[in-house]
Amino acid sequence: MTGREREALRLAVVGVGARSSIAQHAVDSGRGRVVAFVDPDPSAALRAERIFGHTLTGYSHQRELIEGGTPIDAAFVTSPDHTHAEIAIDLLRAGIPVYLEKPLATTLDGADEILATAAATRTPLYVGHNMRHMAVIRLMKEIIDRGEIGEVKAVWCRHFVGNGGDYYFKDWHADRTKTTGLLLQKGAHDIDIIHWLAGGYSTLVSGMGALSVYGGIRDRRENSGRLMPEWFSFENWPPTSQTGLNPVVDVEDISMMLMELDNGVLASYEQCHFTPDYWRNYTVIGTKGRLENFGDTDGGVVRVWNRRHEYSPHGDAEYPIRGDASGHDDADERTVNEFLDFLEHGTPTVTSPLASRNAVAAGIAATHSLRSGSVPIRIRPAGAATADPGTGGPSGRIPGSAADIR
Ligand SMILES: NC(=O)c1ccc[n+]([C@@H]2O[C@H](COP(=O)([O-])OP(=O)(O)OC[C@H]3O[C@@H](n4cnc5c(N)ncnc54)[C@H](O)[C@@H]3O)[C@@H](O)[C@H]2O)c1
Repeated sequence: MTGREREALRLAVVGVGARSSIAQHAVDSGRGRVVAFVDPDPSAALRAERIFGHTLTGYSHQRELIEGGTPIDAAFVTSPDHTHAEIAIDLLRAGIPVYLEKPLATTLDGADEILATAAATRTPLYVGHNMRHMAVIRLMKEIIDRGEIGEVKAVWCRHFVGNGGDYYFKDWHADRTKTTGLLLQKGAHDIDIIHWLAGGYSTLVSGMGALSVYGGIRDRRENSGRLMPEWFSFENWPPTSQTGLNPVVDVEDISMMLMELDNGVLASYEQCHFTPDYWRNYTVIGTKGRLENFGDTDGGVVRVWNRRHEYSPHGDAEYPIRGDASGHDDADERTVNEFLDFLEHGTPTVTSPLASRNAVAAGIAATHSLRSGSVPIRIRPAGAATADPGTGGPSGRIPGSAADIR
């Protein structure tokens, strides 16, 4: 890649839907230009032109792109979850570096095959776990790495998915054949973060969940051809008044999982899709204190309690969250830049395909558990063939000093 370093990378986008605009960060950085797309939807060409501002060479299948003669330096895969494995494996086999959206795959076999293909073909694979670049997460990770709460022993995450009805129950997300379940589809983010903050991977999980609210709504419609945010509105409240849900709704709208990690840390993750507010609350408890975030974007804080006392609302230290004013835009930009640095210079990454695989493994196992009477399920470890293709592990630290990223 050295000879081409100064030229913009020729990029393809596979799946021109709501998330595909992530590739625009590569364009904005001046390091890439989107030259082609793949999408079976006939209206994707117009969408691609609208998003990327010019006409692109279009294909309806990734193999047409591979055989079509459009030279490509990398592909952003932003198609629905159940298509990730086949698409990523085809691209990697063709030697095309891949930025793959989370979750890595909807089955553990699929996830393992993607990693094995990346390793066997020595083709760069990057999984877009943008949460590792969110200001709130980096702040919590720094506090832990500085030793302010001692050795981590427990992580609890409550996830209030306030826009859940609009985001996850009006299209393919609601169909378990396309996602396995939302504990994987949405939870893969937080399971990965829990693993990262705890410095280990889940080995044993159990889950409990239900389709408590949206299953009872009979107003359904086929929304293919429309995309989020076309149906998004804060007026869609309360959740029981939602209309236009996907014809198939068979994923849980509330779920909880317990995790035992390989380093003895115990963790829990609770996800609810019918709360009025949208944010995540983490509590991390160590041998010398605990931390907790209040708000997860700019304006929020992380508080640390590391002296002994009765109820103390403000804690012993309080750190402001700076950045991500509008959700995870800043994190997306950092994530894409990390991918480009990895691609062009082999720079080590904060995200990790192996960690992504292990988040998928825990999410799938917990989903099986919650659908099987909450039985505990042991996680199949990654085999040697799925060795991490060149990036950081679960307890990797953020490169650079704390001051670099405040
Ligand atoms: N990291 C994040 O914060 C984040 C945020 C949103 C979405 N995502 C991920 O991005 C992916 C896409 O989600 P979305 O919300 O953009 O979905 P979407 O439904 O808006 O768009 C999906 C697009 O993929 C196309 N498509 C379907 N099958 C395809 C195939 N076989 N090959 C190529 N294209 C195909 C569809 O026609 C559509 O244009 C998902 O995996 C999701 O988990 C990640």
